[in-house]
Amino acid sequence: MNDAADQIFATLKQSSQSGAPLYLQLRKSIEDAVNRGLIGPGDALPSERDIATKADISRVTVRKAVQDLVKGGILVQRHGSGTFVAPRMERVEQSLSRLTSFTEDMARRGMAVRSQWLDRGLYAPSPDEMMVLGLSSSELVARVARLRIANDTPLAIERASLSASVLRDPAGIGSSLYAALELTGNRPVRAVQRISAANLGDSDARLLEVPPGIAGLHIERISYLASGKVIEFTRSIYRGDAYDFVAELRLTGPSEEGRP
Ligand code: GLP
Repeated sequence: MNDAADQIFATLKQSSQSGAPLYLQLRKSIEDAVNRGLIGPGDALPSERDIATKADISRVTVRKAVQDLVKGGILVQRHGSGTFVAPRMERVEQSLSRLTSFTEDMARRGMAVRSQWLDRGLYAPSPDEMMVLGLSSSELVARVARLRIANDTPLAIERASLSASVLRDPAGIGSSLYAALELTGNRPVRAVQRISAANLGDSDARLLEVPPGIAGLHIERISYLASGKVIEFTRSIYRGDAYDFVAELRLTGPSEEGRP
């Protein structure tokens, strides 16, 4: 522990010429110590008092630097037990060319999947849902919203909407939506997925156990049956620190140029 305090203090001394406010210098020293592996994921940070004494700065300055790093997701604070380097997420590499379900993706990686229900029921459709699913205002939409958790780490919040005519009982889908759709011959065979950057709002961040404002991925999937009918309209928020989406690109021949 003292070693870590010494290391942080040594980096602080090297950077103390920069003229930046002390708490910023300390924040950078702690960040460097984490990036260089001097203190690793799960390690306890030396106490505020230890850092303040070694670096000869006030505890208020230490607290400000530490709070900034907690907000940035570099450190985590556990009540009663102290401040630790945040556990590093094992990133999930996800192919963009296969139409698979969350359950299948995680099972392939040997990860245990569970979901926390956020919402499930039949509702009057929103204008977006009416447009994408081709519903009239007199029809109902089935909504299934879940926090998706793999190996005890919350990875995504998924909000799926389907026509109530294909999913009459959203509460009865069990652990996999696609498995439930398969049983009734409604599993999608094609999907269009749109991925965009999003900063996580307070409630999403709380569910995903990350600091608010941190980078996430907004993913919208519209899936189709072989007949061309839209079966699923899902809007999800994925943790930005947990996913790498991978697409294979091929050089197109002259005959294929211009095709979507
Ligand atoms: C993926 C997709 C969702 C889809 C879900 C189904 O995560 N992004 O659009 O609804 O898989 O997963 P499951 O069958 O595990 O419920």
